[in-house]
Amino acid sequence: MTAVLGIETSCDETAAAVVIDGREVRSNIVLSQVDLHRKYGGVVPEIASRAHLETFDQVIAEALSDAGVRLDEIDAVAVSSRPGLVTCLIIGVTAAKALAWSIGKPLLAVNHVHAHVTSPAITLADPPWPAVALVVSGGHTSLYYLSDPAHIELMGATTDDACGEAFDKVSSILGLGYPGGPVIEQAAAKGHPQAINFPRTMLKRGSLDFSFSGIKTAVLYHVHGFGKTSGGLEKLSGGEIADIAAGFQAAVIDVVIAKSMLAVAQAGANTLLAGGGVLANSVLRGGLEDACARAGIALHLADRAYCTDNGAMIAAHGYYLFQAGCVSQLDEDAHSAETNELIFSR
Ligand code: KG4
Ligand code: ZN
Repeated sequence: MTAVLGIETSCDETAAAVVIDGREVRSNIVLSQVDLHRKYGGVVPEIASRAHLETFDQVIAEALSDAGVRLDEIDAVAVSSRPGLVTCLIIGVTAAKALAWSIGKPLLAVNHVHAHVTSPAITLADPPWPAVALVVSGGHTSLYYLSDPAHIELMGATTDDACGEAFDKVSSILGLGYPGGPVIEQAAAKGHPQAINFPRTMLKRGSLDFSFSGIKTAVLYHVHGFGKTSGGLEKLSGGEIADIAAGFQAAVIDVVIAKSMLAVAQAGANTLLAGGGVLANSVLRGGLEDACARAGIALHLADRAYCTDNGAMIAAHGYYLFQAGCVSQLDEDAHSAETNELIFSR
């Protein structure tokens, strides 16, 4: 039995969890900072890092006490070390290094996006890899091929905005608030997805890359008039706003599903994993389920509790790395971008 403490501070959630053997989630504490950032319409890095600093120790203490596990019973400490807001990551990384050193147990530096990739496995009895994996979050929209959790290869990624970022920006254009994903989903439920035919940007034939900046501009001009960036919102009724939200959501989801199916075909795979904050969206979940059922592909969606940022997925991914003999050194650092994997053998 291997107990891993997972720590997550890459963006605007201060989170910690204790997970046994990558699957038994004993605790999963997530302290969202969304109320601190709401009035700015997005995450303010300085506010985020100060809030992590004020709360990380209580969140970790709560994760241990909720799990009924003492710190000296932890077998390894996993932490998001990349990619993310570096002033936020550094708080989790420093805490994890200090804790690992103090108990004389290994440190596991986790690629946050890779943790989203393997997050569907937390609720499965058997490992689902090899597989293609889709990650749709506020910072990433990527397709990967994973032979196993220590070997994750990028197949395609967004060339501009991330999928969740597009939801957040369109929500701001429509005056619906922050974070955009849940409010767009709610508004879209009252609208007609076919009322407005927004562009589905597929890029060149066979490409697994994404682009969401075009649809964002299409929504902006639809609201205000071509070439204009203000003055139109006040003229729209609630029903028209709902139709725009529904049309936008449908277009984005069509592209995400089409590219995921293309990636599975190109890889010759028969399993698709999907995770990340946007996977909390019911229409996307349903669409992926239908498409995979039609194509005879096994689909594993991350449980909603493990879609938006959390410590359980970091602990679970850390466990897989630990099993593969990949541990980090205490001079491990935080990195804003995805780095080449910094993996050391025991
Ligand atoms: O994975 P996550 O918590 O953070 C990153 O690693 O980026 O994802 C946050 C993103 C936000 O952009 C948010 O608007 C989006 O996930 N999101 C949703 C929904 N719930 C959260 N997008 C669409 N529909 C939702 N229901
Ligand atoms: Zn994330």
